Amino acid sequence: MPIKVWDYIKEYEKEKGEIYSAIQKVLESGYLILGDNVKGFEEEFSRYCNVKFGVGVNSGTDALFLALLALDIGPQDEVITVSNTAVPTVSAIVSTGAKPVFVDIVPDTYLMDTSKLEDVITEKTKCILPVHLFGQCVNMDEIRQIAGKYGLKILEDCAQSHGAIFNDEKAGSMSDISAFSFYPTKILGGYGDGGMVLTNDEKLYEKLLRLRFYGMEKTYYAKEHGYNSRLDEIHASILRGKLTHLDEYISRRRILANQYDKLLNESTLTLPKTMPGNKHVYYLYVCRHPKRDEIIAELKQKDIFVNISYPWPIHIMTGYQHLGYKEGDFPHTEKASKEIFSLPMYPFLTDAQQNIVVESLDEILAKIDFK
Ligand SMILES: Cc1ncc(COP(=O)(O)O)c(C=O)c1O
Repeated sequence: MPIKVWDYIKEYEKEKGEIYSAIQKVLESGYLILGDNVKGFEEEFSRYCNVKFGVGVNSGTDALFLALLALDIGPQDEVITVSNTAVPTVSAIVSTGAKPVFVDIVPDTYLMDTSKLEDVITEKTKCILPVHLFGQCVNMDEIRQIAGKYGLKILEDCAQSHGAIFNDEKAGSMSDISAFSFYPTKILGGYGDGGMVLTNDEKLYEKLLRLRFYGMEKTYYAKEHGYNSRLDEIHASILRGKLTHLDEYISRRRILANQYDKLLNESTLTLPKTMPGNKHVYYLYVCRHPKRDEIIAELKQKDIFVNISYPWPIHIMTGYQHLGYKEGDFPHTEKASKEIFSLPMYPFLTDAQQNIVVESLDEILAKIDFK
């Protein structure tokens, strides 16, 4: 049996009773769009994250896009983020007409290097967009201090960090506004697309309710230009159920990460580092090795599949050449993209499967390291 980097089948088998019953209740309720489940899930998820308001939308990408629009970000503005992220972090900025401006990462955590932020702040900078990548948070104390000094907004990209904690604060609760994804592979993942924006600001909340619903303030009356980006009732009902298991999923991810740490401690892989102050939720277990591609090819021979997040930094992609960056601009990002890969990690990965991954890696590394 192949060992995939992520797999939902065992989780689905365990939870399918709950899932079917949630779906059935929605279908029998007569409300498919913006009913009690979306409202309930918004309240429950925002409470989980210690934030006042939540607005369910159709994806993490839209959560970022609409959050930026709610902050009045548009053409002429600059938003600072990283090139070492998922494309949607950057595409959401570009979709508003604003310009993404990148800083490099810290090489051992792969997170935004906050010490570089002040170098790229200009008159046009409106917002800092830290990405809590792989399951741990960027140093939000430093970001808040810099944002305060320059009067900037902060949008947290929490697509990979549901439940992560930085100095006792939950991911998504440390800024003006935050964006989550419920894409299937995520720590809280649905059975299709979905996302949510969280904020403590009532004005932003009201604006977000309009932006996701054709700009409407009341039925058939648009107060402003808006979009159709609704989380639907069926997905909200499934996610409400899964939210009750979220802490269990996170504990299991932490156990697996701990076991990988111990079992691979003597290997030549560079293992993930947790930044001080963080409680990591291990969306991904990211390792590093200069012969990454050889290792991946050998693992594939053994029916073990890993993931590279991300093999290409965004600033060198053809889709983002117009931003004016070139190879060499972000050395730590570029080097990491050539060396990192993530091992199978999901709550229903068994210890036996994990042992096969580790034994296979040991065998492969013994060969590759002495070539
Ligand atoms: C860091 C990051 N931001 C944003 C997104 C976008 O989320 P979605 O796929 O739900 O649009 C993702 C997911 O791929 C992500 O990993």
